[in-house]
Amino acid sequence: MFSDSLVEKFRDLPTPFYYYDLGQLKKTLDHVQKYGLSKGYHVHYAIKANYNFEILHLIKEAGLGIDCVSGREVERALEAGFSPGQIAFAGVGKTDDEIRTGLKSGIYSFNCESTQELEVINILAGQMDTKASVSIRLNPNIEAKTHKYITTGLQENKFGINPEKLPLIFELIPRLNHIRLNGIHFHIGSQITDLKPFVELCTRVNELQKLFEQNGCQLEHINLGGGLGINYNAPDSEPIPDFQSFFEVFDHHLEIRDGQQVHFELGRSIVGQCGSLISRVLYIKDGVNTRFAIIDAGMTELIRPALYQASHRVDVLTSNKPSQIYDVVGPICESSDTFQRAIQLPALERGDLVAIRSAGAYGEVMSSGYNLRDRVKAIYSDRI
Ligand code: LLP
Repeated sequence: MFSDSLVEKFRDLPTPFYYYDLGQLKKTLDHVQKYGLSKGYHVHYAIKANYNFEILHLIKEAGLGIDCVSGREVERALEAGFSPGQIAFAGVGKTDDEIRTGLKSGIYSFNCESTQELEVINILAGQMDTKASVSIRLNPNIEAKTHKYITTGLQENKFGINPEKLPLIFELIPRLNHIRLNGIHFHIGSQITDLKPFVELCTRVNELQKLFEQNGCQLEHINLGGGLGINYNAPDSEPIPDFQSFFEVFDHHLEIRDGQQVHFELGRSIVGQCGSLISRVLYIKDGVNTRFAIIDAGMTELIRPALYQASHRVDVLTSNKPSQIYDVVGPICESSDTFQRAIQLPALERGDLVAIRSAGAYGEVMSSGYNLRDRVKAIYSDRI
């Protein structure tokens, strides 16, 4: 991913910065087209993973839609040129203003997460003399086998409506004149690398679809959310997630009706591997049992290791000396500001460059100004 000439260019740039390989993103999108879109599946890119316009532009060109979780994300998607008909809007706590933003532009679907939200959307749509397209987000109670902070489909998670509440919904919907029910929605979690939870999800969706039909609701679409994981340990041997196997799960296990659309909301699997956080070694310090490589990027630029104990591969770009063992840490005043512990890396010195890999999703977008840090910059492969 990093040729010698690219590393030479990096040497002169102020660090830290995110580097996005747009060629890598295009190849990934080719796979989404080949294994997903070409079979008729609809994919809404989860804009929360990375909302840079350069990235959104390629995603739009590839024919994907957008999945949003805030009013500002809806606005961003529209600004990037996506049509309202390509936008789904989920989130457990949509404010009245955010709902109005979606109604004003006539988005494809509000993915509704509570009965009260349905009633509020109905009132607001009534006030605007319009009709909202709504799909019901159901909580299927499925263990996604991922980090507990990014599991969303269990009963104890705040997301979606418990299917036990469906009788209430079936009774409510016909009374809501400003709502048009067009589908059901699920999202069981993120960074899911074992496909079995998706098989389980299909079984659950098949049961629930029947229940909707028994209650007189034919569903125009089924939205299965996102969640496909990426290989953080070996990004170079698996730069593109296995979209073929992912979509095949649904080919084989989901029972769809004639003319019914199937939607997905993939984020990490699309943009994760195209981004790296490039950082410079500031200091090497020997502790009692530990040698620290202190770099100029920290949890303020990439919070995933501190927040989810996530492991991002660290590649050294400017040294091939015999290896030593390091804890790679950032400059922030928190001990959780650690990228890797006790890893072998080519011997480092002040000024060396490292790439923290697989950081294209939930990296830059989750950066913060803690310690009054400057906003991290982005550099793109087509403009360096
Ligand atoms: N749809 C909904 C309703 C979501 O909440 C999410 C992610 C997605 C789709 C996309 O999921 P993906 O395909 O990217 O797994 N910050 C965490 C990840 C949080 C994911 C939140 N929701 C991380 O850095 O691991």
